[in-house]
Amino acid sequence: MQIFTTISEVRAWRKENSHVAFVPTMGNLHAGHLQLVRQAKKHADKVIVSIFVNPTQFGINEDFSTYPRTEIRDCELLENENCDAVFLPSIETIYSPTAQTTVSVSEISQNFCGASRAGHFDGVATVVCKLFNIVQPDVALFGLKDFQQFAVIQTMVRDLHLPVELIGVPTVRESDGLAMSSRNGYLTESEREIAPQLYKTLQKARENLSTKTIFEIEKIAISELENTEFIVDYFKVARRSDLKFATENDGNLIILAAAKLGKTRLIDNL
Ligand code: PAF
Repeated sequence: MQIFTTISEVRAWRKENSHVAFVPTMGNLHAGHLQLVRQAKKHADKVIVSIFVNPTQFGINEDFSTYPRTEIRDCELLENENCDAVFLPSIETIYSPTAQTTVSVSEISQNFCGASRAGHFDGVATVVCKLFNIVQPDVALFGLKDFQQFAVIQTMVRDLHLPVELIGVPTVRESDGLAMSSRNGYLTESEREIAPQLYKTLQKARENLSTKTIFEIEKIAISELENTEFIVDYFKVARRSDLKFATENDGNLIILAAAKLGKTRLIDNL
């Protein structure tokens, strides 16, 4: 497996390879990321993964400085998956001190995580756009746990006519249903026991769709989560196509949730 830290190294590698799949990550890899790599291998001849903890997608009181940096272990895991290349850029490589450009995907970034994490999706869209321009992949894969992130990136790719095919990969879960996330490691032992309740509540909400109104479903779910120590950021039924809040007449729905357990913010959807 080749390890690159500069843009010119990635560009030279890209020129040698005709069909490339790309998996952008912030490292601290878990089974969900490795599943992206496995899927990526089915879609291209070569797979490149980036590991970059992107400062612009963290808010001022968020966990940028403490976000786990585990590059050595991450590279070992990727090597075991027969990944072809890893891009490990420095902050200065991605953000030159004179840079003036931000990519902002307006409407779809507004609600849900966008409402509680100001500027988060501008940071995500900007870094993903930069990484796409550096790697120039044919295909890029993202986990669907971050459903709004995937929708933001799809909208950016469409609006900027970026020549890349996007593939969303279903969420990988622990055996008790908890969605895999690099942030699960922040949970204390007792919080880890409670954490699968988020997915259980989503499942119950989905069952309730046939018998209850959206207002009732959201209300029941929020109080259920609050009764089990979660502080709910949002629990919302939305239209899958454009992430607008759903009305009773809509079909093709997605239920999106974010809630804090102690200091850890968990997100999930169904
Ligand atoms: O999902 C992530 O890990 C990050 O948001 C991404 C897409 C790598 C951009 O920094």
